Amino acid sequence: MIKENIVLGIETSCDETAASIVVDGFDVRSNIVSSQISKHTVYGGVVPELAAREHLKAIKPVVDAAVKKASVSIKDVKAVSVTNGPGLMPALLVGLNFARGFSAAMGIPLIGINHFIAHIYAAFLRNNIRMLFQKANYPILSLVVSGGHTALVLINADRSTRIIGTTIDDAAGEALDKGAKLLELGYPGGPIIDKISKSGKINKYNFPRSLMGAGGKPVSKANKFNFSFSGLKTSLLYHIEKKGGIKNVKKNFLEDTAASYQYAVIDVLCLKTVKAAKFYNAQSVVLCGGVAQNSLLRKELENRLPRDINFILTPKEFCGDNAAMIAGLGEHYYRKGIFSDFNLDAYSRLPEFSKIPFVPKL
Ligand code: KG4
Ligand code: ZN
Repeated sequence: MIKENIVLGIETSCDETAASIVVDGFDVRSNIVSSQISKHTVYGGVVPELAAREHLKAIKPVVDAAVKKASVSIKDVKAVSVTNGPGLMPALLVGLNFARGFSAAMGIPLIGINHFIAHIYAAFLRNNIRMLFQKANYPILSLVVSGGHTALVLINADRSTRIIGTTIDDAAGEALDKGAKLLELGYPGGPIIDKISKSGKINKYNFPRSLMGAGGKPVSKANKFNFSFSGLKTSLLYHIEKKGGIKNVKKNFLEDTAASYQYAVIDVLCLKTVKAAKFYNAQSVVLCGGVAQNSLLRKELENRLPRDINFILTPKEFCGDNAAMIAGLGEHYYRKGIFSDFNLDAYSRLPEFSKIPFVPKL
């Protein structure tokens, strides 16, 4: 009988079919991610029904590959944890139903995991796990930046969580993806803008920084740690129109525009995170989510944070959607004996947040 807590994680909330085996909540033995991005590129975004169909095709081979790569026996898997929200409903249901079947067939517990919280947990996989257990690291402020979310989350030593800021319109990843679309760079735009920006000047064009206060007045108290990126997208549209459309622009205009636009997003993310970290006396700051793969954001936030704040940077392989974060977080529920019901349902939107602890209380 194997003593280790071997957990299978499954993730199908958007356009990646992912499965992973994680032992004891941190030891990632396999992390298989099958992306369907090429199927959605022609539509310029993720089509939910198409995503569900692709998940259905990929789920079994992806789970088999995760178990094989981990070199564990399927009989030794102690629990199956699965993303049950937030995300695209048809996509979520594929992973959820597979996990339910797996749980019933193997006679092991089923654990539903919140995708948003799992993105934060991703920062603590592998060696970073020790930081989760050190009280001195709390409160932890986490900047969650993905295609669907942009939020600042405060995690207290008792593992309670609170969203202290969020986007009031577009998410940071969405702003980069929409910006890339206007620049006709392709989809998803984040990684393309990241690459092309390396050849451009970040301060060449002055794109707006929203909710930062204006005319010498500070931003309203309610929006102090909130974000807004929809105005930025509109100003990019005008910027391109002034040149007579994207077809008429030169290579260096495109590079400088991409770099300045990306920097406008990164600048606000860093300014607000540093401000919030000081305001809430955070001892650590986590950067996580798909946009956390951005090379400039990773450097810029680290450089701007005061040296006495511990910077916990999610390894690139765990920033985008993956199942290691689902399996890792699931293990904490397994260890505490907190299991989901077989009739576990999926949900598309983030539920009232304060009710979900980061990991189950100590
Ligand atoms: O976390 P994620 O994989 O999926 C969601 O839960 O949304 O995040 C996807 C987002 C997309 O908007 C994508 O453009 C962005 O992450 N992204 C990046 C980079 N790689 C992915 N954004 C900026 N720079 C990157 N290198
Ligand atoms: Zn995600």
